[in-house]
Amino acid sequence: MRNRRAALAAIAGAASLALTLTACGQDSSGGSKDKGGDTKGATIGIAMPTKSSERWIADGKNVVKNLESKGYKTKLVYGEDDPDTQVSQIENLITQGVKGLIVAAIDNKSLGNVLQEAADANIPVIAYDRLILGTKNVDYYASFDNEKVGKLQGTYIVHRLGLDSGKKGPFNIELFAGSNDDNNTKYFFGGAMSVLQPYIDKKQLVVKSGQTALNKVTTLRWDGTTAQHRMEDILTSAYKSGRVDAVLSPYDGISIGILSALKSDGYGSGSKALPVVTGQDAELASVKSIIAGDQTQTVYKDTRQLAKVAATMVDDALKGKKPQVNDTKTYDNGTKVVPAYLLQPVSVDKSNYQQVLVDGGYYTESELK
Ligand code: GAL
Repeated sequence: MRNRRAALAAIAGAASLALTLTACGQDSSGGSKDKGGDTKGATIGIAMPTKSSERWIADGKNVVKNLESKGYKTKLVYGEDDPDTQVSQIENLITQGVKGLIVAAIDNKSLGNVLQEAADANIPVIAYDRLILGTKNVDYYASFDNEKVGKLQGTYIVHRLGLDSGKKGPFNIELFAGSNDDNNTKYFFGGAMSVLQPYIDKKQLVVKSGQTALNKVTTLRWDGTTAQHRMEDILTSAYKSGRVDAVLSPYDGISIGILSALKSDGYGSGSKALPVVTGQDAELASVKSIIAGDQTQTVYKDTRQLAKVAATMVDDALKGKKPQVNDTKTYDNGTKVVPAYLLQPVSVDKSNYQQVLVDGGYYTESELK
């Protein structure tokens, strides 16, 4: 990898570029990378996980917009949550001659072989939002402070239940985590549990289902229906008496499923108030749900900023400049610590959605109606 990066830097600066590139066997046709850093017209491949969630649609559009404004062409593909599909899509992008790759992995461990092909073709790879594991062939990581996402969710629950202002409980809580093949999952859950566990230990928070270990609470591919079924099962088996006071949900799509199960069980009508339900991504349906008083909170991550960071990283890498990073310790992918730029997530509920999301230009007032 170091050689590849060094080669890219040399490519950007050297006068004998066509020669270098031909010698490396990477671009015998003299592609756009061989113009002393003039990458205009080069194509960047963008592999996103799924269109089933609106955030990834926005991410894709924003990455394309940023790259186009820097003079790149783009090829944007969506893997429909199938790891094999994503691998072959990336293979196709490489065959089609993309000069850089931005990848939000579906299965973080499935990309080793295809990224070796990218390395062999001297293509820099940016892991987008989700870290790619087990390969040296990932150059940079653009994401959010993922542990903080979980801490914001855990802290919100503690605060809304009043545990930080003298209430003793006990309150009943159920725990949900994201997909077990997404590296972010353990950071979100770990962050949340760092706040919740002390209250569980003091029995001020009680998990009546007994399902507290990460491998008992994950939700494959972040699927809302899977979460809904798990919540239904928990309500049937563990809540013949007593009520759910809070649900740790890592993602808005999961929160929607959890809320359906709760509503079918009578929560949200009569005197049976809905529990505190967290989320993530500030997806439109969930922000509307928050305004309606159903979902309680979400964690907003400005995908416009993330897209900008990733596009700038690939642009810098191709021009032989060192991309800006602000974390060189946290994200060990099992083979190397991937230099990362982490953005800050923001907790959003009914009290600040207007200020954060509307005044911040993420949604218009009319979109939220
Ligand atoms: C995660 C991402 C979350 C959420 C989730 C489901 O990797 O960090 O923000 O989008 O995937 O799509």
